[in-house]
Order: sequence, then C-alpha cells, then structure tokens
Amino acid sequence: MRARAFKPGVHLLGAVDWDRRLFDSLIPLPDGTSYNAYLVQGSDKTALLDTVDPTMVAVLLEQLDRVEHIDYVVCHHAEQDHSGAIPEVMDRYREAVLVTTSKGRDLAIDHLHVAPERIQTVEHQETLSLGGKTLEFLHTPWVHWPETMVTYLREDRILFSCDFFGSHLATTDLFVSDPGVVYEAAKRYYAEIMMPFRQIIRKHLDLLGSYAFDIVAPSHGPLYGTPSFILEGYADWVSDTPKNEAVIAYVSMHGSTRKLVERLVAELEARDITVRQFDLAVTDLGKLAIALVDAATLVVGTPTVHVGPHPLVVHAANLANAIRPKLRFASVIGSYGWATKAVENVAGLIPNLKVEVLDPVLCKGLPREDDYAAIGRLAEAIRPRHQALGLVGA
Ligand code: FEO
Repeated sequence: MRARAFKPGVHLLGAVDWDRRLFDSLIPLPDGTSYNAYLVQGSDKTALLDTVDPTMVAVLLEQLDRVEHIDYVVCHHAEQDHSGAIPEVMDRYREAVLVTTSKGRDLAIDHLHVAPERIQTVEHQETLSLGGKTLEFLHTPWVHWPETMVTYLREDRILFSCDFFGSHLATTDLFVSDPGVVYEAAKRYYAEIMMPFRQIIRKHLDLLGSYAFDIVAPSHGPLYGTPSFILEGYADWVSDTPKNEAVIAYVSMHGSTRKLVERLVAELEARDITVRQFDLAVTDLGKLAIALVDAATLVVGTPTVHVGPHPLVVHAANLANAIRPKLRFASVIGSYGWATKAVENVAGLIPNLKVEVLDPVLCKGLPREDDYAAIGRLAEAIRPRHQALGLVGA
C-alpha cells in the first residue's frame, strides 16, 4: 500500500493484510484486515500515529523512507497489530519519543521493550502542538485494553480511533464505499472485540459527542467520511434494548437435536419472533457473535457426549460468556442416549450472561410428540417475555 494523503499533511500509511484468516489464533477474518497508521506533519513537528503488525514492518518502513524526522510516535493501544513496528521505527528515528497513556507506558515497556526514558505519558485531554496541527489525546480505556486512547486532530476535525470503530476488512478503499459491507464488518468487530465493554463504550460515545469531527480514522478497515454512520451503529449496538430475535446455536450428531431445533424455529416463527439458526459444526463464529449483538433470547441445542454437552457447544458457550451480549433469556434443548448433565454444564459455562433461564427441553433418543409439545411450550414462554420488553406486538 502506498502512503495516501487525505488532508494536507495527513497521510494514511500501513498495510492491508488480504490473506489473514485468523486473529489472536481465535477470531475468524473472512475478509482479511488492515493495520492503519497515520502520519501527521505540522509546521514544526511530525507524529506517527500507531504502526503495523510485526509481519508488516518492512511495508511501513518503506513508506517512511522519505520521512526524515519523526518527533512523536503515538501509541493508542499496545496490542501488537498496531504497536508491532514501534521498536523498528524508534530505532530508525532516534529522536522520536513514544507518546501514550501511563498504562500504555507499562505495556510498551513489557511487550515492546521500549526504553522508559523515551516514553512521554499524556493525560486525558492533554494536547500536543505540531505547529498548526494540535493533537488532543482522549483516554478511552477498555476499547479494548486498559490503556487505550484516541486522538482528536483539532484543525482537521479528524478522530483517530485505533481499534474503536474499526472493521476487519482488507480493501483498497480509503473511505467507506460500500456501507453494507463495512457495517457488517464493523458490527462483527464490535461483537467479537468490543461488546464485553458495552457500558464503558457508552460513556466514550458521550464524550465524543462533545467533539466535532468530519472523519473517523480507525486502525482497521476504511475511514468513515460520514461519522454518523458508525456512531449511530455503535449507539444501537451498545444500547440495553435487545431486538425481537432469538438465536438458536446447536450441534446435532444423529439428527435428534436438529429435529427439536427445526420445531422450535417453526414455533417461534409462528409467534412473529425472528430466529437466527446456527449449526456450530459449520458456522462462522463471527456470524454467531453478530447475531448475539441484538438477540433477546439464546437457545443452545446440544446432544449429550459422555454426559455433558458437545465440545463445540462448550466452545461456543465459552465465547458467548466472554463477549457478554445483552441477552435476557436462555434455554437448552437437546437429545441424550441414556443419561445427561448437559443443562447443568451449559448453565455453568455462561455465568456472565444475566439471563432468565427458561425450562429446558431434553428428550431421550428421537423426539416424541410430548417432546415437541414441550418445544411448543418453550416458544410459548419466550413470546410474552419479548412482548413485555416491547419487542413484539400483542
Ligand atoms: Fe487491533 Fe486490539 O488490536
């Protein structure tokens, strides 16, 4: 990727990682990602905002070949996909000082071995003048590490947000050109990375509401030339109100649990509840995470394997517990052969989900009519609860 100016003295640098398919050895990246860095040149000083993943150091260094001086390297976030080239950049630019929060200082020392004497910490709303360009640092902890901050460039009305508002999307587009594609990628990013910090993000959105900016420049994915697009998305996602949606995440080994799932989908559909069904044996867990952003109800479907839930259900339940969606109701359905503790085990995996647990439906072997009747009762229990929240009409 070449350096691209989008305001006088403000360049996008960094790298597009078209082929990366996994982040943190955990998160699927169906559309790759990018690591955006930004060069801001004032009349007196030059700042580099974030760097790139360690795998892309050479790309960034080549982009910087014509840059003689860097006075400041701003580290919004010490995770290596943005901080990975800081040691090499600071080796090349011996005059450069690393600018970060006090927590960022500790992380930079531990993770990057930056010399403490080359680090300058900044307070919330502290400013740094580059000459005609003023950087204002806003502390925004837990998007998504404790040290995270964003930078507001006053004169150009740009918010450099790092992970906050980002999307894992490899693209040659400088700005969002296909809102539908970017919306899903940004929602996926929110679901997987940001959702556990929903409450504090609401406070950050309030803070940002007092700043006027025309561009949001994240460190993953394209820039937002219309900030309301992503701000309104986040406002919806972090709200406490779920939507009239039920997620059914299941595994079926011999078809019995699947029969229960199919009946439940039909019963919920008949009660005007939108259902999103995921077979955990084949689903992209990112799609499941996206669905959990809005859902009011989660039903886990599992066969019994050695008395407990299927291992893929265990994995998905662990993830759901970690990302803390705003779910209100949950239940378990499934089939077993001779004995089961699947319900107790699943319930033990999701302590973070503050949900009302509805009566489970477990059947021995292939479902019979009374099992299907129990599925109907489960759907009948879900409907008035959605109704009470105002999610579905009477
Ligand atoms: Fe994109 Fe938290 O790093």
